[in-house]
Amino acid sequence: MRKEPKRYLVTAALPYANGPVHIGHLAGCYLPADIYVRFLKAQGKDVIFICGSDEHGVPITLKAKNEGITPQQVVDKYDGIMKNAFKDFGIDFTYYGRTSSKTHHDTAQEFFKNLYDKGIFKEEITQQYYDVEASQFLADRYITGTCPRCGNPGAYGDQCEKCGTALSPTDLINPKSALSGNVPVLKETKNWFLPMGEIQQTEQFQNYIKRFSQWKSNIKGQCNSWLTEGLQSRAMTRDLDWGVPVPIEGPEASGKVLYVWFDAPIGYISATKEYFEINSNPIAIGSQIPNPKWETYWQDQDTALIHFIGKDNIVFHAIIFPMMLMAHGDFILPTNVPANEFLNLEGDKISTSRNWAVWLHEYLTDFPDKQDELRYVLTSIAPETKDSEFTWKDFQTRVNSELVSIFGNFVNRVLVLCEKYYAGLVPEINIKLKDEKLIKARQTCMDHVAESLQQMQLNLEAIKLRDAQAEFINVARAGNKYLADTEPWKLIKTDAESVKQILIDALQICAKLAIAAEPFLPHTSAKLKLMLNAKDLDWKGLFNETLIGSNQQLNKSEILYKQVEDEDIQKQLERLERIKKANHLEPKPNETLHEVKADISYEDFDKLDLRVGKILEAIKVPKADKLLKLTVDLGFEKRTILSGIAEYYKPEELVGKLVTVVANLAPRKIRGIESQGMLLMAGNDFGKLLSVGPEADIELGSIVK
Ligand code: 2FM
Ligand code: ZN
Repeated sequence: MRKEPKRYLVTAALPYANGPVHIGHLAGCYLPADIYVRFLKAQGKDVIFICGSDEHGVPITLKAKNEGITPQQVVDKYDGIMKNAFKDFGIDFTYYGRTSSKTHHDTAQEFFKNLYDKGIFKEEITQQYYDVEASQFLADRYITGTCPRCGNPGAYGDQCEKCGTALSPTDLINPKSALSGNVPVLKETKNWFLPMGEIQQTEQFQNYIKRFSQWKSNIKGQCNSWLTEGLQSRAMTRDLDWGVPVPIEGPEASGKVLYVWFDAPIGYISATKEYFEINSNPIAIGSQIPNPKWETYWQDQDTALIHFIGKDNIVFHAIIFPMMLMAHGDFILPTNVPANEFLNLEGDKISTSRNWAVWLHEYLTDFPDKQDELRYVLTSIAPETKDSEFTWKDFQTRVNSELVSIFGNFVNRVLVLCEKYYAGLVPEINIKLKDEKLIKARQTCMDHVAESLQQMQLNLEAIKLRDAQAEFINVARAGNKYLADTEPWKLIKTDAESVKQILIDALQICAKLAIAAEPFLPHTSAKLKLMLNAKDLDWKGLFNETLIGSNQQLNKSEILYKQVEDEDIQKQLERLERIKKANHLEPKPNETLHEVKADISYEDFDKLDLRVGKILEAIKVPKADKLLKLTVDLGFEKRTILSGIAEYYKPEELVGKLVTVVANLAPRKIRGIESQGMLLMAGNDFGKLLSVGPEADIELGSIVK
């Protein structure tokens, strides 16, 4: 058994400051991290919770290009928006930094210099993709193409987000510049590589990976599969002008910056430094040593370092960053990397570019006082072991039938009865319960409450937050059952003394719920403590028998949760429907039903000569809105083919794509040009290339012609 750490350093992935925050972000790592940290803090543990904006990297520069502003303007805009969204939902970071800060630049440069001076990096002159039109090297997300591992056609030059593999741009099949859409050329450049294959062989790394056995199986599995394949060296510098400049004197490093995945995780260290620089009295955060320093959290082996992330960040946190920390030598290594899988929305992957998301700021406009409700639902469906699904109907059901009907209803019944019978003054008990049925109901309830609280605590310790929250609701469920079994509202007429006992018991359960709600539902917890007039209730009292004493004056009760109405849900669904339409993802109603044509014989089918072709060139046909003139290479010859897809594809998007061609269709002239074949397209109200592989983003039953 690992010994209890003296302190905890919990981090949540630094989000790219290139857009607002959505429910996928929240469920992926910020909410679980916050719940865990609140749980640790509630127990009086020494813990700091670090996050911040990741302000470098290609996602930022691409956003700047799209919006016609500078990268600095992008990060200045979104840093504030993200910070506020987290605050609104009670994500209580000890410190939220920025990687554009001076402390961060200094820290990242010192870190790089340390490894450079030790000769850890391998200098390599390699061929990197270059966009001639944009006069720029194409690192990471500046380049897209097909993942060689899983066939995802939207993989980035540094990673495939579908299968999680870390890639190099030259690994991509059919690479394309994200700047101009052009096929890039290769050009020589020098960069500094982390020799991951060599580090993998070291005893220190082999010792470190023993920790994986204690980690969740999704992380263990991914890491082990990369390690089995063997790790490749990876460039830690990039030919870009946005980022932390490479701290090497002389011309060879000019115009180069640190790889964003080198600088971003160092952001956890620099944010911790900044926090201690800014806060003169860190004891206020509950530190158990008199003068804690940032080094205490990053260098003392008694600290547990826990990185909460989404699954696309696993390789960087579980392998690359630990290798960097090891190579540096002054730092502790991660104790755990609890990565979540992805959250989908109404059956489709959340996508910022398609606006397929529930944005936190928009949610708050529609549900201004329902922060805890979203926290609750996202924890109930947390993608802890596999991808999970958010639907608005399910949101409504969980809020109404769990928060409103179980937790809220229990608390409300107890407090309203106390107001009604005792004017909110907790009564004294003069006699014990005598009725066997009441005694039994009481015992059953107490047993269930204790058992659920214990189980909740164990699940929180194991970072099984979904299960932990389910046990929390079970406590309220047991309380409700106690009231249903004993019916104090009826009993009051015949046995008022027993009612006192029952309601005092129920008040203790309310107090336990107020304590236990803190990690999951912090706003509700504060509200309930206020209603109970017991704001000092704390975690240590969770298993105490008496938390609310006789003669304590309760405050006026309020409803904890209001129903989510059908209209509220309808409004959200209509919004998504509009987005779907805008994305052309939905067929027009009268185009969905097409009768299947009459059977043909195999001989008929065999008359078709279908060939794979590669589009070499695509140009618009003048004065024809729909037509593109394509040059398609069939291997044995090149053909000119006209295709009516100009409304759906930009010519540059098509270059390099593989398509299926009907090669023996009799040539015909269209607009004076001879078309020598036909592309097979799946279509509804929009064209779609019939992609080879699993990524055909089109409705089932679409006609291919
Ligand atoms: O995937 C992302 O959003 C990255 N910005 C996460 C960085 S985590 C850490 F290394 F800073
Ligand atoms: Zn892949």
